[in-house]
Parts: sequence; C-alpha cells; structure tokens
Amino acid sequence: MRKPLVAGNWKMNGSRDANSKLLSALQDGLGDLQAVQLAVCPPAVYLPEVIDTLSGSNIEVGGQDCSDEASGAYTGEIAGSMLTEIGCRCVIVGHSERRQRQNEDSAWVAAKFVAAQAAGLTPILCVGEQKEDREAGRTEAVVAEQLDAVLDAAGVEAFDRAVIAYEPVWAIGTGLTATPEQAQEVHAFIRNRVAGRDPRVAAELRILYGGSVKADNAAGLFGLADIDGGLIGGASLDADAFIAIARAAAESA
Ligand code: PGA
Repeated sequence: MRKPLVAGNWKMNGSRDANSKLLSALQDGLGDLQAVQLAVCPPAVYLPEVIDTLSGSNIEVGGQDCSDEASGAYTGEIAGSMLTEIGCRCVIVGHSERRQRQNEDSAWVAAKFVAAQAAGLTPILCVGEQKEDREAGRTEAVVAEQLDAVLDAAGVEAFDRAVIAYEPVWAIGTGLTATPEQAQEVHAFIRNRVAGRDPRVAAELRILYGGSVKADNAAGLFGLADIDGGLIGGASLDADAFIAIARAAAESA
C-alpha cells in the first residue's frame, strides 16, 4: 500500500509575511489529515523559519535543490547535509526549471540524488518531457534517459528511499494539465521500467504527478492506478487549493 504524498514546490515565491499566513492556514486546514504525507519546499532562505513554524505538525519540509558535492568551494550551493541538519526530510532534484535554466543534465541530477540520499534526505526526482518531445513521440525515450541515469548511478534499491515526480514540462505553470490517461500512461511506463530492475521496489515506489494540478483536476489524477500524489507548484501557494488537493489525495488512498 503506497501512502500518497502531496508536496508543495513554492519555487521562488514567498515572503516572511506571506509564508506565515500560508502556513497557519495549512495547519488549520490539514492538521487532522493522516492518510496522506504532506510536505512543503520553500526557498532555502526561509527553511529554518518554516521548519520552526511546522515543528510538531504533520507537514514535513524539504529543499528545492541540493549540491552534488558534500562541502567545499561551491559558491551559492547548499549541501544535502545542511538541509538535513536544519530539519529537512526531503529535497527536489532535477526539476525541469533547473534542468533548463541551470543546464542540469541527467548525470548531474543523478549525482545530486546520490548526494541527497547520502545526507539522509528523500530525493523527489523530477522527470518529464518537453512539448516537442511529446509531439515527436519521444516522451518515453526522454523519461527513460532521465530515469536510467539515476538507476545506473544509485542502484534500483535506492528507490526504496526516494520518490519520482513525473512532470511534463509543457504542463508546468501553463494551465495545461496532462489528461489523467496521458499521465497514467507515463506513470505506468516509469513503474514498469523500475520493475525491469526490481519488481518489489517498483511496487512500493511512489510516483507523483506534477504540472498544473489544481483543486478541480486533482481527484481525477490521483484516482489512477500508478499516480500516488502530486508535486504542486502554483496551487501550493494558495492555502485553499493546496488543502483541497491534499484532501483529494487522502480520499484516493
Ligand atoms: P505547477 O508546477 O503546479 O505550477 O504547474 C509544478 C512544478 O513545477 O512542480
């Protein structure tokens, strides 16, 4: 039985004031929810404050990225061990915005995944195709390349302590959501590919969907066989929307 996970990726949004309002609304609205695991991933500078605010709640906190290195002369980077030390439980790696803007390739993302786990964090590994890939029928090839790089570097058993997020790039922040059928097809492909290495790991692996998940489309996505929750961008900044999405995931459990 896979417990659904709903994680909010705040991206480069927030302020002390906005965070505090959002978090108090989330705690009021989600305090009783046990059937779903919850997390928020704020910008790094706010992590200590957010962790403090949420201590003792059922909402975990994660980073949005971490370095592939353990420490040293890497200006601007944050080591996984630093995230662990301040109380993070998970970290997003390989988000498409970083793959595009920071030119993170699959080998680099795999190294970040390994470093995150070595620091005791649960990586949330993002994979997904661009619009041109889908139109050219290359969705599975692109997702396979991104996934295999991590399977090869970390080994399939590392996925006992990891989560995958399938995020079609064309659906992120665009209001275009993959249809539940399109999403389920890729989720099943990912699970089968992991099963090719180890069926037990694949059966227990949580695969989240991300890309314009909103209160009104969440239930349709989370109801499908291989969709185990969501990585939520824009809607995670709106307390009512995030609460509704988390409740939809709890009902799918
Ligand atoms: P979105 O972002 O929900 O705003 O589309 C999802 C993500 O990028 O994780």
